Amino acid sequence: MPISRRNLILGGLAASSLSSLLVACGRNDEGVAVAPGPTAAGGGALTPTPACGDDGLTPAQTEGPFFTSGSPGKADLAADVSSGTRLALTGTVLTTRCQPVSRAKLDFWQADDEGEYDNRGFRLRGHVFTDEQGRYDLTTVVPGLYPGRTRHLHVTVQPPSGAELTTQLYFPGEAANARDGIYRPECELTMGPAAGDAKQASFTFVL
Ligand SMILES: [Fe+2]
Repeated sequence: MPISRRNLILGGLAASSLSSLLVACGRNDEGVAVAPGPTAAGGGALTPTPACGDDGLTPAQTEGPFFTSGSPGKADLAADVSSGTRLALTGTVLTTRCQPVSRAKLDFWQADDEGEYDNRGFRLRGHVFTDEQGRYDLTTVVPGLYPGRTRHLHVTVQPPSGAELTTQLYFPGEAANARDGIYRPECELTMGPAAGDAKQASFTFVL
């Protein structure tokens, strides 16, 4: 892969996510004294307290009513739509022993920027697999709000062996988070620096 600014940023995000994991496996970064992004990867503010135990498991969340099985392999969900703020999502899937989970299938589905799901086709639905280092990479758009819910992405994570995790990912700083009974702060994305009009985020799943 050629070295580009985007790759460096994404690499930094992944490293930042991994560093944060050492503090709180799969938990949100609230209270962790580190700014997300490339500068955090080598930052000295992290306390390397091992925490990849059962307490660090990514919480399961309800699947909700809009899951459709059989999604296509698709790393660029943004290509499905003509509107919405682009979101580059990267991260890692790890075990409770902090080992990367390769070939885990992450199946994403979400509302478009107007809060609508495609319940007939696979617009903004698709799956990707983790690489040998347990990393995944998805391009999508920031989902819109719909009644009763804060902004969120749905995802299932199926490791090659073991139980599937169904959960949801949230955006920090959303006013609607506090009004959503399903929202969990442990499932908040870590936002990276904006890249032009696009947003960048990372999340580490711990299975
Ligand atoms: Fe939803």
